[in-house]
Amino acid sequence: MNPADYVTLPAFEQTGYVVLDSYDQAQDPREWEQLAFVDWKSSGDTRFAPLASAYGDLECNGFWNHTPPKTDKDGVWVPENIAVAPRLVARAQEPGANIGRCRVIELQPNTYGETLYNLHRDDNNRLNPEGTGWIVRAFFNLTDDPDTMMVLREDRDDPSTETRIPLPAGAQAIIDTQRLWHAVWHPSDRARYCLITSYESGPELDAYITAKNGVSWVPSHPIDPQVAAEGEATAQAKRDARAAALAARGQDPTFGDGSLKAGAAMEVLSEA
Ligand SMILES: [Fe+2]
Repeated sequence: MNPADYVTLPAFEQTGYVVLDSYDQAQDPREWEQLAFVDWKSSGDTRFAPLASAYGDLECNGFWNHTPPKTDKDGVWVPENIAVAPRLVARAQEPGANIGRCRVIELQPNTYGETLYNLHRDDNNRLNPEGTGWIVRAFFNLTDDPDTMMVLREDRDDPSTETRIPLPAGAQAIIDTQRLWHAVWHPSDRARYCLITSYESGPELDAYITAKNGVSWVPSHPIDPQVAAEGEATAQAKRDARAAALAARGQDPTFGDGSLKAGAAMEVLSEA
């Protein structure tokens, strides 16, 4: 699967992400507190409240895992949740681009090391017909989490490729999450909520990014070098432990040289 076979937007070429103007979240009701959440294992301790799902049911499975399977477009609104979240629906619809999955994530606090272990890439474009728009995902932070960051890496194992984007209330970013490894670092004592929407790349999304003054690069938020080093060690220890557990079950997750087979360590991390 090659993005060159799809409609992509120039704004994502350089870095794979775009940061938009912040949104005045304080003006809105806290609609996410009224949503129905379902347990759905993602990167970290998470639940999700679907606003649009594959066929309008209150569930979060990838659209490709349904019968009939579909790509991450043409999401169907979930009646019980959109009834209590008109502002969130309006924000998701504002770009005017085709919407696939649309949901609010609830993420419990975690550490930087756990975040590095949770780094994964999404499978947004499975079944997406070539020649149509490449699917990217928008993250609109709802709760005010000033110490929380979206951690992005071009190369999972190369810290020098990392960008950390702060996520206070109203932070808005659109990310090519099939290209970039990503996970959220949430050092807090309460859950974080964020609206995540899959969009089809095309003229509508391009115009929206322009209207919101999207920028393709932001300075990475500083991190304490000791925290960074400890995080790398923690993540590697967790990967080693997982590989050992899989090997003990007769499922060698490596190619024999220590490199992981695609999906081996991330089999449950389809989502963030
Ligand atoms: Fe993800």
